[in-house]
Amino acid sequence: MRHLTLIGIGTGDPGHLTRGAVAAINAADLILIPRKGAGKADLAEVRQALLEAVLTNPATRVAGFDLPERDEATPNYLDRVNDWHDAIATRWQEVILAHAPADRVALLVWGDPSLYDSTLRIAERLQPKPQVQVIPGITALQALTAAHAIPLNDLGAPVFITTGRRLRDGWPAGATRVAVMLDAGGAFAALPADGVTIWWGANLGLPSQRLDHGPLAEAGARILAARTDLKARHGWVMDIYLLARSGDETL
Ligand SMILES: C[S@@+](CC[C@H](N)C(=O)[O-])C[C@H]1O[C@@H](n2cnc3c(N)ncnc32)[C@H](O)[C@@H]1O
Repeated sequence: MRHLTLIGIGTGDPGHLTRGAVAAINAADLILIPRKGAGKADLAEVRQALLEAVLTNPATRVAGFDLPERDEATPNYLDRVNDWHDAIATRWQEVILAHAPADRVALLVWGDPSLYDSTLRIAERLQPKPQVQVIPGITALQALTAAHAIPLNDLGAPVFITTGRRLRDGWPAGATRVAVMLDAGGAFAALPADGVTIWWGANLGLPSQRLDHGPLAEAGARILAARTDLKARHGWVMDIYLLARSGDETL
């Protein structure tokens, strides 16, 4: 493999695929599709459906592979993730070798590769180093703001993007708006709800998409119930939200 293309595919809606993404898909010799295992949002079927909609090059092969499990016994979070990334890079190399020759290899990256995604970090581990190209995609954050028809930022104000894990430590200092991703479930409940508005979206771009919006004090319980319902129906749920707190300009 001399070229590795990381193709941002948006969040499952075929309308999120750019012309650049479609061209890169059809230029690949081999496209790798990860499987995460039962009960997890592996989205392999969504990726397959997107390929069926746009892949017209008969020479392009598609290979599914099982992602290695993360060793949750490793105590330090960053060590745990780094070891896992090493294992994924090794798995990629095994699959690519099994499908040799494949000069141009592509991965379909959920959303965009620049946002809370480690595909670029894993690609850096490959030896020999391929030439890496990124095709930008629609992020879950853009899918959220578009679904609610809202701007991401207050007028002339910065935006803070964080994870559910970090939101549990409290409202980020100085922020008026906070976007939250990778929340294992209701991290907003750790905050005082007074004066906070939430715009929430789950499974955005997919047929199971759900939206909610309102004062956190009222919407919070509805959102937790919707999350539980989606998880019961599909085995997984992916959600993202934007929180706005009034009166923070002086903080
Ligand atoms: C590993 S990150 C990947 C983000 C992706 N690279 C992007 O650009 O959106 C996964 C997180 O993105 C958000 N996410 C991804 N797809 C989503 C969707 N369809 N609906 C809601 N949130 C989504 C969730 O916060 C999820 O926990």
